Amino acid sequence: MRSLKDKKIVAGICGGIAAYKTAGIVSKLVQAEAEVQVIMTHAASQFITPLTFEALTHRKVFTNLFQDDPLAHVELAHQTHLLIVMPATYHVIGKLASGLADDMLTTTLAATRAAVLVIPAMESQMYTNPIFQENCRKLRALGYRFLGPESGYLASGRAGIGRFPDEEKILKEIETIFVDHSLLSGLRILVTAGPTREMLDPMRCLTNKSSGKMGYALAEQARTLGADNVLLISGPTQLQPPEEVDFLKVESAEEMREAVLAQEKNFDVIVMAAAVADWRPKRISTHKIKKLSTSSLTIELERTPDILHILSQKKRKGQCVIGFAAESENVIENAREKLRKKQLDLMVANSLIQENAGPESETNEVTLIHKNGRSEPLPVMDKREVAYEILRRIARLAKSK
Ligand SMILES: Cc1cc2nc3c(=O)[nH]c(=O)nc-3n(C[C@H](O)[C@H](O)[C@H](O)COP(=O)(O)O)c2cc1C
Repeated sequence: MRSLKDKKIVAGICGGIAAYKTAGIVSKLVQAEAEVQVIMTHAASQFITPLTFEALTHRKVFTNLFQDDPLAHVELAHQTHLLIVMPATYHVIGKLASGLADDMLTTTLAATRAAVLVIPAMESQMYTNPIFQENCRKLRALGYRFLGPESGYLASGRAGIGRFPDEEKILKEIETIFVDHSLLSGLRILVTAGPTREMLDPMRCLTNKSSGKMGYALAEQARTLGADNVLLISGPTQLQPPEEVDFLKVESAEEMREAVLAQEKNFDVIVMAAAVADWRPKRISTHKIKKLSTSSLTIELERTPDILHILSQKKRKGQCVIGFAAESENVIENAREKLRKKQLDLMVANSLIQENAGPESETNEVTLIHKNGRSEPLPVMDKREVAYEILRRIARLAKSK
């Protein structure tokens, strides 16, 4: 969450049962180096103590409009980049929609022109109350951003709409507010992801450990960063395609080649994050290969098409091609050589023998190899953040062409 570094965020905590969940979110924002100031309503402190947030933020929590710094609400309202109201209660949303400001949180909200993210959570009966729905409609029309609630288990023991969204979803939404949504505007981006599967017989195949997470994160971030059009071509993975991204599913290296070559002319940037097999069985048996009495079986392999090489031969003026290299030794040297040979615009190198990285990990540690051979190591980050950093460089590259 590097986009949150030094961002001034006010976390307004209200008196709902989900208040306890907000401590985790505040902690994550602090870890992302945002400057977080917590304001609690009187009711919120019935559910969780200010001490918890003071320990997490290393700052005094504001709870009282009159006893705390008397002008704090005005200062905060001016300085902050984002106010988050969570869990936004029936009561606080009612006050906001009616223009009431009788405590530290609602006074700060009244005085700010910064973005406000409202995350409601309550029992279904309260949430579906027409008065509440009317208040939400009014706030949305005035530009307040809303997230959730979701359906699921509620504190009363019933199930229904009103549940506070998951921490990860909230953090993603907060991050989205701060990214530059026009960074990739004017660019059409094709991303490949996942492994390929080379059949041996109707049941068995040769594949690799790629999960597709890096490529899917790139496609999702490309959309968030305002690319005009994003196409994800993916080998078999367990992942859900990101929203608002065009999606093509392929299986073998040959199918990947066909799909990429049929589409590449429609794209300005091609990011080849898929782990395409280098070898495939020379013959695919039409019948399941039987267990033999011999103790070994020899399978003859042949090279698959080198899609990156073909792309580099076809590359048209202004088009950017980005490669990925997963290596287990001499990572940088091998990646640099691949970049040079295939005339790529950028190479993303990962080591296969690193902690906090690799196909199944949620995080990745990569080194970017630039066209002039310069290597730029990035720290260990969530794959979404790695995607963001790669796309930032791609935006610069594509726009300088
Ligand atoms: C145990 C308990 C749980 C509550 N949970 C919620 C809730 O999840 N959402 C909500 O809108 N109100 C909830 N309330 C009601 C609020 O606490 C109440 O409306 C309060 O005035 C809210 O104050 P505030 O909006 O200033 O924080 C709950 C009340 C109690 C006693």
